[in-house]
Amino acid sequence: MFTQLREDFPVLREDDAPAYLDNACVTLKPQSVIDVVTQYYTETPGCGGRSVHRFGTTISKSVHEARVALSQFINAPSPKETIFTRNTTQSINQIAHGMSWEKGDVVLTGDREHNSNLVPWLQLEQEQGIDHRIVRSHDDNTFDLEAFEAACASAGKRLKMVSMSHVGNLDGVAIPIREITKIAHDHGALVAVDGAQSTPHMNVDVQELDIDFLSFSIHKMCGPSGMGGLWGRYDLLDGLRTIQSGGQTVRASTYDSATWADPPARFEGGLGNFSGMMATGAAIDYLSKLDMNAVHEHEIRLNRRMTDGIKDLPGLEIIGPQDPSLRGGICSILMETLPPHEVAMLLDEVNGVMVRSGQHCVHSWFADKGLQQGSLRASAYFYNNEDDVNRFVETLSEIVHTLG
Ligand SMILES: Cc1ncc(COP(=O)(O)O)c(C=O)c1O
Repeated sequence: MFTQLREDFPVLREDDAPAYLDNACVTLKPQSVIDVVTQYYTETPGCGGRSVHRFGTTISKSVHEARVALSQFINAPSPKETIFTRNTTQSINQIAHGMSWEKGDVVLTGDREHNSNLVPWLQLEQEQGIDHRIVRSHDDNTFDLEAFEAACASAGKRLKMVSMSHVGNLDGVAIPIREITKIAHDHGALVAVDGAQSTPHMNVDVQELDIDFLSFSIHKMCGPSGMGGLWGRYDLLDGLRTIQSGGQTVRASTYDSATWADPPARFEGGLGNFSGMMATGAAIDYLSKLDMNAVHEHEIRLNRRMTDGIKDLPGLEIIGPQDPSLRGGICSILMETLPPHEVAMLLDEVNGVMVRSGQHCVHSWFADKGLQQGSLRASAYFYNNEDDVNRFVETLSEIVHTLG
């Protein structure tokens, strides 16, 4: 279904194209995105938002269009609610450090969070005395709604924030955001969703999910590196402190006072990554032409092939539920004896298969389980095909049978 799109990605056009299965980390970029980056530096290498010469106005227009496209992609009510950031990490830090906290305020996260949605809360616990609590998943890593309800009830009025990853990068398991939001809101708490692994792979509609914040990484969505996004409800953004004050973040300043600019400018301090913002527009234009439900289904189909191919190999165990339809495009594998980094290097060396190895910034989950070494993680995107996953399965089988 997506086969013809492979032509849009220079890396995949080569005769020796890799089987690129490291999409949960970073995705490949289509030519249209690369062209916009080049275009900025060759044709309009200036400053948007401030300068009113031709370069400046071209960039400002293009950045505005990118913001509108991005807002529409997540169904934000207004582009004023969509902020350009460097990545999901910066977006979550903006939420965590932009809010005001009182000692004892409870923040709930899951037990499979990327460090980006764990460490900022741990930092607030150390520095400001918030009470960060973990909601444990079921044994197969699926969400435990009862445990979540109990955690909300136990926190009571002190529950201030529920911050959870929509889809885990450890295992691809999604959580029921709509239900979670309903319960959290009933307890008077806000809901911040780490959408780094959902926004690129499925329909994410901030209004339908009824959430308060969404963080995501444009570099995982065919966009340029160094680009991410933060969406927040306007009234909440309007009450948030910026973590990067300076140029662009104020309407006016005197020697002893400053008047804050409205969102989103308040949060985009300093000269922006203009080529990145413009190329974000190209990436979102590209993704907007795809049926995101079909993208999700395609990834599950590929994951089914990976799962069937490796599930019976000796010494391997897939993290999370065995049913691939519960793990999107992610197949993360624990190996009893083989070291994941070496296997990942061999996969590329032997057959050009690129996957990720290690703890995927979810060190806490591995530490909790007493697992010393990480996993081997293959993650698919719409441009991957049967051949890619077959190469992965066959080469991994060969390695396991030779070295295992
Ligand atoms: C679920 C999740 N959250 C947060 C992040 C952090 O993203 P970034 O490195 O773009 O800040 C990642 C990156 O892999 C992720 O998968």
